[in-house]
Amino acid sequence: MRLVRFLVFLVLLSCSGPKEKIASQSMALIPKPQEITVSEGAFSWNAQLSFHSDETFGIAKNFMVDYLSKSGYSLVDASLEGAKFKIIRDSLIPSEGYSLSVTKKSIVLKAADASGAFYGIQTLRQLMPTDLEHSNSFPNPAMELPLVQISDYPKFSYRGMHLDVGRHFFDKECIKRYLSYLALLKMNYFHWHLTEDQGWRIEIKKYPKLIAHAAYRDETLVGHYNNSPAQYDGQRYGGFYTQEDIKEIVEYAQKLNITIIPEIEMPGHAQAAISAYPELGCTGDLVPVAKTWGVFEEIYCPKESTFQFLEDVLSEVIALFPGEYIHIGGDEAPKNHWKNCSHCQDLIRNEGLKDEHELQSYFIKRIETFLNSKGKKIIGWDEILEGGLAPNATVMSWRGAEGGIAAAKQQHSVIMTPTSYCYFDYYQSERPEEPLAIGGFLPLEKVFDFNPIPEELTASESKFILGAQGNLWTEYIPNEKQLEYMVFPRILAMSEVVWSGPTADFQNDYPQFANRTEKFFKRLDALGVNYANHLYEIQSTILKDRGKVWYQLSTMTEGKEIRYSHNNSESQVYTSPIPIGETTTVESQLYLNDKPIGFPLKDSVVFHKAVTGNISLNIQPHPSYGSGGKEALINGKLGSENRYGDSEWLGFWGEDLEIELTLDAPTEIHAVNLRFFHAPGQWIHAPQHFAVRVFLEDGKIVTNKFFLKVDPENPMVTLNGTLAAKEPIITKKIVLLIPNYGTIPEGQQGAGNKAWTFIDEIVVE
Ligand code: ACM
Ligand code: ZN
Repeated sequence: MRLVRFLVFLVLLSCSGPKEKIASQSMALIPKPQEITVSEGAFSWNAQLSFHSDETFGIAKNFMVDYLSKSGYSLVDASLEGAKFKIIRDSLIPSEGYSLSVTKKSIVLKAADASGAFYGIQTLRQLMPTDLEHSNSFPNPAMELPLVQISDYPKFSYRGMHLDVGRHFFDKECIKRYLSYLALLKMNYFHWHLTEDQGWRIEIKKYPKLIAHAAYRDETLVGHYNNSPAQYDGQRYGGFYTQEDIKEIVEYAQKLNITIIPEIEMPGHAQAAISAYPELGCTGDLVPVAKTWGVFEEIYCPKESTFQFLEDVLSEVIALFPGEYIHIGGDEAPKNHWKNCSHCQDLIRNEGLKDEHELQSYFIKRIETFLNSKGKKIIGWDEILEGGLAPNATVMSWRGAEGGIAAAKQQHSVIMTPTSYCYFDYYQSERPEEPLAIGGFLPLEKVFDFNPIPEELTASESKFILGAQGNLWTEYIPNEKQLEYMVFPRILAMSEVVWSGPTADFQNDYPQFANRTEKFFKRLDALGVNYANHLYEIQSTILKDRGKVWYQLSTMTEGKEIRYSHNNSESQVYTSPIPIGETTTVESQLYLNDKPIGFPLKDSVVFHKAVTGNISLNIQPHPSYGSGGKEALINGKLGSENRYGDSEWLGFWGEDLEIELTLDAPTEIHAVNLRFFHAPGQWIHAPQHFAVRVFLEDGKIVTNKFFLKVDPENPMVTLNGTLAAKEPIITKKIVLLIPNYGTIPEGQQGAGNKAWTFIDEIVVE
């Protein structure tokens, strides 16, 4: 539905709007400033420019001097009155905000604090030619800046990116580049996930085996976790940061106004540490550093000696990281070992705890008390709510918004990172050629549409939402090129969410953002970033009205033409939706100046007997997996064969489904064919059976029940449900009864949680 609205918008855009607005759009500032006006003319910046800065704005000044030094430009110190470029303190400007005035005569940047001055400089940088981004490459003796008046400040105080260096290791220089991209986009927190089952990455002097042993695994899984049988590469893999490396990175981050939050995971994701020091676990068994992905049973045993270890580790961590937060993990800690450990069970009894969840809460509270006593605050993943929240903890809500809502209602600070909007390890395109990723589907537009403030919160509760963060888990990200591909351009959208603020008018704002992103790619080219470009993909939508069906094409950026052919006809320029009356294949391609750009789209529309009908559901799909709406189930378009997150698949969490189809007219039918996604690694299970109930014209009801069989080689369970009946089945009404798989059994990912059901097209023959 959204795509339909886009098209209407694009038509309006091309024939209205003040000139000034268009000019500012063409400027490619990301994140978009709160207010900007653009005037005719330019400021001419020569090789030397007189400059004056308030003395407390060192990071802004140093950044600019350093940035220009590569290019032959220099700033010449001058008095406040004499300088053409000045950075002035103004206490009336909001915290972290700035104002920037570029006139023909001068550049005046004002801020109340050093952060604001730094962000003003980042905006100024984005007004400069992109060639300045690479060393010694700017040949011109002068550059021109557009004339602007900008007032700007961030909507959220926490604007973050996360990086998992446990599954794959990224070296010091790569981390610095990552930080430099955060700074360009006015992000202020780097959440550095330093310990994992598959590798411990930070030198701890008191426990040398953490880097000698726990930083290396014998080999690594090849291909996807869901593939069977599992295969390994036979290559020892690992790496770590020395404390000297960390100091260097922390210092580098400070120059970019970024606070680093180190994450030391507990009690789960601890297999690498337990591999080095088996006494940290419940069993004392020798275990390897993990070589595959997922959640592992080896977790820290809450013994006094374990707390001593963790306090020692955290003491060294505190000495390295000056920020106020330490992330202590808390997610995905299976409790089986605790259930079978006499120490753990005694502790539960002696402390008067109810169960293992309360034992985890006891664990986290003890660590919090220690860290608070050292002047640090903890952040934990939303599982730290289970068994009771530690008194001063900040919650990072990842399994959805629910954890964040619960924490805010308890007056705890919250950082939003729900998987459905913030997991940049998910696929960003439906193209089958995309590089292997963990699963899911998170296109650019969905990140842009994220609102970190859940609707369920009142205005006063919303104040506890500090902001949001993009997360980058690296199971399927083996190198920096792939890291950049997954981060860009989604980080651009996230920076707008947290700085400019969530969009209140998606149809209007997203095409503008897409056009700015297209221009911003030039800066990323100059920086040598390996971004993903899906801006030139064509979207197709099925439109329906009173028994008639059309196929509609649209694209997001300006100035392009779509050409298509259907059922192998001659290629023609697309101008309006194509009527569809039979099963049809359509091939389309975007053109710029008569040259194809992007990738061709090949689609087929299966014109089955329910396509012209209506559908109703007893429950709504989960908001994260329902973007196509219920119509996606009878629109003639099949979902991807290996991505459940596209707009054709609908996901339902833990609930039984009842789907009613009303055909356009009484019709003879023979079969109802269904497909379910099956990805146990992502908690998605096909149901074990379902029923089809057909209401005949004479009032009789025919019910057929079908049993499904899982093929471990195939992520999909397909059933061709040929209907059995004594008489021809002529009907207008069909009801499908699809029970949820139920609770995920022990031994599987997500054990004890409700399973997801994912279903795509219901093909009625
Ligand atoms: C997480 O993704 N396990 C926090
Ligand atoms: Zn134990």
